[in-house]
Amino acid sequence: MAISIYPVTAEFAAEIGDLDLSQPLESSELEAIRAAFARYAVLIFPAQELTVDQHLAFAANFGELERSIELQLGQRRPRTHEAIADVANLTTDGDIWRRDSRRRQYGMMGNRLWHTDSSFKAPAVYASLLYARSIPPVGGHTEFADMRAAYDALPAATKRRLETLRAEHSLVFSRQRIGFDGYTAEEKQALAPVVRPMVRVIPESGRKSLYIASHIGHIQGMPDDAAEALLQELFAHATQRQFVYTHRWRVGDLVMWDNRCTMHRGTDFDDLRWARDMQRATTSDTEGIFGERGAAAFAVTEY
Ligand SMILES: [Fe+2]
Repeated sequence: MAISIYPVTAEFAAEIGDLDLSQPLESSELEAIRAAFARYAVLIFPAQELTVDQHLAFAANFGELERSIELQLGQRRPRTHEAIADVANLTTDGDIWRRDSRRRQYGMMGNRLWHTDSSFKAPAVYASLLYARSIPPVGGHTEFADMRAAYDALPAATKRRLETLRAEHSLVFSRQRIGFDGYTAEEKQALAPVVRPMVRVIPESGRKSLYIASHIGHIQGMPDDAAEALLQELFAHATQRQFVYTHRWRVGDLVMWDNRCTMHRGTDFDDLRWARDMQRATTSDTEGIFGERGAAAFAVTEY
C-alpha cells in the first residue's frame, strides 16, 4: 500500500500515514520516505507501536547507528538499549529524576537551547528518530527551525559573509552557556571541538542551509564577542515564527528530522511531576556533507 503524506507546513514538516514501522519496509515505501525526507526535513509517523529493536531497525534505513559508547555522566547503567539516546527524565530504575540530579542539569536545561544533535561529533549526525513512549499532559513540546528557509531569507551580504566562516562546535560550549562546567578532564578530551562551515549544501535537495547550534563556542578568525554577536543575530533570525514548526507530542509518535538543516529545542514541562519517556535513535552522516567519511562517532545523549 502506498504511504500517505500530509504536509503540516508547506515545505518543512509532514505527517506520514499508512505505514507500520514495526514491520520491514518495502523498497517502494522506503523510497517514498526518502523522497519526502529530502523535501520535508521533519517527518512525523503517528500511532506507532515499536519495541526498541523495531525502532532501531527502522532508523538503520537512514545510515549507520551511532556507536554505543556513551559518556555515562554518573549513570550506573543505560536504562534502555545502549544504541538509544535516552531523552527521558527517568533514572535507571524508572523513577522520575531528582531536582539536583546531574543528568537533569546537564540534559534538560541544555535541551532548552536551540541546537542540532551532535554537531560536535565527526562524522556529524544525519537523522534523529525520537519516539514518544510517555508524555506529560501539558508542555514538553519540541520546536524545529528550518535552516534552509532561514538561509534563503538572509540578506545577500550576510550570505556572502557566512560563505567562508567556520565555527568550532563542542558539547562543552553549549553546557557552559547554561552554567554547567562539571565535565571531567577525560570527558572534555572526548568532547574536543570540531570545526564546521556555517553554510552547507544539502545534496539531496541542492538547497543551502545555515549550520549553527548552541554548541558553537568560537568562530575562526573572529574575536569571541563579535562571534557571539553574530551568532545571536543568526539565532534570532533563524527562529522567527515563519521558520518554526512546534510538535505537540502524542504517545506513539515517532518524529524524524534531518540534523544537517534543522535546529530544535524542547519546551518547558514539570519534569519533577510528569514522566516524559522519549527515546532517540540517531544515524551518522557517514557519507559526510562535511567531507568527514568514516565510522559513526560515539553516542552522547545530549537531548
Ligand atoms: Fe536534541
